[in-house]
Amino acid sequence: MTATVQSLKESTLTGKGFTLQPSTLSERLVELKFSSETVQAFLARIAEWPVQALEYKSMLRFRVAAILDELCGGELKPLLINSLVDRKTGALMITPEGLTSVDQAEEMVKFTTAIAHLFGRSNFDAMSGQYYARFVVQNDDNSDSYLRQAHRVMELHNDGTFVEQDTDYVLMLKIDEQNMEGGNSLLLHLDDWADLNHFYSSEMAHQEMRWSAPPSKNTGKDVFHPVFDMDRSGQPIMSYIDQFVQPANFEQGNWLTDLSESIESSPSILSVRVPVGSFLLINNHFWLHGRDKFVAHQGLRRELMRQRGYFTHAKTLRNPKQ
Ligand SMILES: [Fe+2]
Repeated sequence: MTATVQSLKESTLTGKGFTLQPSTLSERLVELKFSSETVQAFLARIAEWPVQALEYKSMLRFRVAAILDELCGGELKPLLINSLVDRKTGALMITPEGLTSVDQAEEMVKFTTAIAHLFGRSNFDAMSGQYYARFVVQNDDNSDSYLRQAHRVMELHNDGTFVEQDTDYVLMLKIDEQNMEGGNSLLLHLDDWADLNHFYSSEMAHQEMRWSAPPSKNTGKDVFHPVFDMDRSGQPIMSYIDQFVQPANFEQGNWLTDLSESIESSPSILSVRVPVGSFLLINNHFWLHGRDKFVAHQGLRRELMRQRGYFTHAKTLRNPKQ
């Protein structure tokens, strides 16, 4: 099997221990499913290491990755590397079958860790103090950003805008969901956004702007970069979030508001239902992500896990001159 996404047509591609097919929502989003046999064999092989072992010893994150790849006949690693840097796709919905309950949260974290460390390394997450962060959304929340607030849209954005670490990928896992109506993940590929060239060709697109986060993010330092950059092949990439950009003046503030309105009203936004135990994995440079609003419910509970990091097995997309 040639395990590249480019070879995908309408049919399902079957590898050792997994299947791959384009989502019905968009050909840019690839669905990767692991059989329960693969998942159980993986968990049995790494049973000696609880998640705490992966937290304490970074090297073991790569060892669990190697074990999963071995169980998939060595085909998984090149497939993930190719899919994530391929501008035409760059997004996967991944389902390890049989992990469907919050009781299996540890197993879910182990599985996502193995996936992430086949092509990258997950960054230290200042919110949790670990290489991943688990967080709960409930009916009432008094946090200082929209991350955990239920009843409103979290607008489309890139991650890593206010940190100095490279953030090439974002992995978002659904650990639990109770009494949830709405709240789909929202995704927009830059090349599907009709106004991309209009905004990218503006002088404002390449001006340095200041980015600072609220106290819960534990970052404590502003960073400076433009909204747009160029990848190695000359294509636009973005590093943008509406809540944390601090425009310096009238012109920047209004240009950013126009940009926000254009993105949010794009008809090309994908609304993706992520089942418990499944996760989205996206290239953070040319995909924007967000979350639709929920319907209020007293028993509402949603638990998520994220990992963000940099590619170790593919060149970073950022233009080296910039
Ligand atoms: Fe995000």
